[in-house]
Amino acid sequence: MTKILPVTEDSLKEAKSLILKGETVAFPTETVYGLGANAYNTVAVNKIFEIKGRPNDNPLIVHVHKDFDISALVDGVPGYAKILAKKFLPGPLTMVYKSKGTVSSAVSCGLDTLAVRIPSHEGAQRFLKYVGLPIAAPSANISKHVSPTSAEHVLADLNGKIDLILDGGVCSGGIESTVLDCTGEIPVVLRSGLISREMVEEAVGACGEYVYKEGGVARSPGMRYKHYAPRCRTEMFELSEYKKALALYDAEAEKGVSVCIICDADGKKFVGDRKYMCLGSKPEEMAANLYSELREGENTCELLVVISPGEHKGVMAGVMNRLTKACGKRYEN
Ligand code: TXA
Ligand code: MG
Repeated sequence: MTKILPVTEDSLKEAKSLILKGETVAFPTETVYGLGANAYNTVAVNKIFEIKGRPNDNPLIVHVHKDFDISALVDGVPGYAKILAKKFLPGPLTMVYKSKGTVSSAVSCGLDTLAVRIPSHEGAQRFLKYVGLPIAAPSANISKHVSPTSAEHVLADLNGKIDLILDGGVCSGGIESTVLDCTGEIPVVLRSGLISREMVEEAVGACGEYVYKEGGVARSPGMRYKHYAPRCRTEMFELSEYKKALALYDAEAEKGVSVCIICDADGKKFVGDRKYMCLGSKPEEMAANLYSELREGENTCELLVVISPGEHKGVMAGVMNRLTKACGKRYEN
């Protein structure tokens, strides 16, 4: 049986004892819930891959407390990374550095780099401080399913597979952290998120964006996989194609299929009295709502018709990346 406990002295004690025994613990962050294990313990790290059914070439992020000295883990932190860390951390930004090889090689799946994240969520900080170890953690969902933004989401995926979920409420961010490669001359976004490419560029003058090409070598191995997908059928349309989206809805509803539209505040104007969920109007709001709506959708509908918000700049780049992946496109960055 999997327990859900609020973050208290007692539950932290239990979490620490599980981590020290080489078990996993789910914990809240400001982006999505993580499934954590002691990053120094290979057996524990491998349990994460087993529990999630995660491909063993998709590396994990190491989470550390804000006072942790990352020079114990990584080498050659460039000047721009120090500026970014000062500006954005703790927060939803993961930085990839040259690894010192001090954590288990299972964390990075044998790569010579290590992704490091300092989450800002109070529950995450308390957990990391209490345990006092770097914690390797992917999102706490079954591999390729939608990431969890509440303790209940974690339970829905991992009930019976883990002992403890630390409940820190609903995640405010809602999409996974920005992953930034900090091993080169300038930072390069490997996965977009709430810290946008534009925000990084403004802080340090330059920022690249890596786009994975089908068949190529992925700099962030996670890119190669279909991700974030709800368990029901999904179809995605541009806002300009909203008539096609509504026609599909009507045709399927006519056949008795339970359909729901997902759209933003602009798309909502067109849906009439059809069943819909509105992501919101601001990018941050859409990020916060996206995964809980996809999960709600898969639990209540057979078909989700997505009318895409369309914008790909700033924080919306992250929202659109997740929406596109949820609708089954595999190779979008
Ligand atoms: O917000 C988040 O980042 C959440 C919470 C729990 O912190 N974690 C998360 O982990 O999203 P996960 O495992 O679902 O995604 C990690 C991503 C993958 O795309 C992986 O390929 C990339 O980070 N990654 C990890 N280590 C890397 C490395 N050394 N080089 C390049 N990419 C790396
Ligand atoms: Mg994930």
